[in-house]
Amino acid sequence: MLHLSSSLLLAATWSLMTTEVSSERVVSCSDVQRLSCDSGVISVQDALYGRTDRQTCSEGRPPQQLLNTACSLPGTFDLLRTRCDGKRVCELNIDDVRTSDPCAGTFKYLETNYTCLPAVHLNICEHSEAELNCEDGQVIFLYGADYGRRDRTTCSYRRPESNLRDVLCSSPTRTVAESCNGRSSCRIRAENSVFGDPCVGTVKYLEVSYTCQYPV
Ligand SMILES: *[C@@H]1O[C@H](CO)[C@@H](O)[C@H](O)[C@H]1NC(C)=O
Repeated sequence: MLHLSSSLLLAATWSLMTTEVSSERVVSCSDVQRLSCDSGVISVQDALYGRTDRQTCSEGRPPQQLLNTACSLPGTFDLLRTRCDGKRVCELNIDDVRTSDPCAGTFKYLETNYTCLPAVHLNICEHSEAELNCEDGQVIFLYGADYGRRDRTTCSYRRPESNLRDVLCSSPTRTVAESCNGRSSCRIRAENSVFGDPCVGTVKYLEVSYTCQYPV
């Protein structure tokens, strides 16, 4: 299924996931929400920022902050999908989700349901190139692509610590899907000239996840 020439393999870390789908539910009352897959990549099934019952995140809250159980911020599902689909680990600050207040005076939480899907997962270091490839008449279906940096270790070899520090540099992109979806193979360069520069001074990488499917 996956082909990388030996020179490309140096620049890209990859693995092929074969485990079955599991389902997870995460509720965050404040601060940060963390989604992760031990194997496979994240596929967000549904997400809610608001309140739909009185029990969730109710500890220490006055009752009047729990009364409204029909509160939901539109767009939360799309935002979670954009930020997290196709990643092994996805951390987001609730402040990033709270683009507006759907119900003032009500205490809100972020609830996300996701599964871990088998996928080919690639990290392509900045300035290098990789080929996405499907065999047997199958075509590429992108789960997600993100150009930036979300941890200190990926693509860090011989790089100064100061260029690895910004791990909040997430820039989900549709560019890869637009040029690769439906094709049996495609080459991608991880460059600012292709994706823009989401964090100047930081060494970046392109994180890509995809599967191979028979065309419909
Ligand atoms: C997540 O799944 C649970 C259990 O199936 C369900 O009760 C809940 O409403 C779901 N949450 C969202 C945000 O869809």
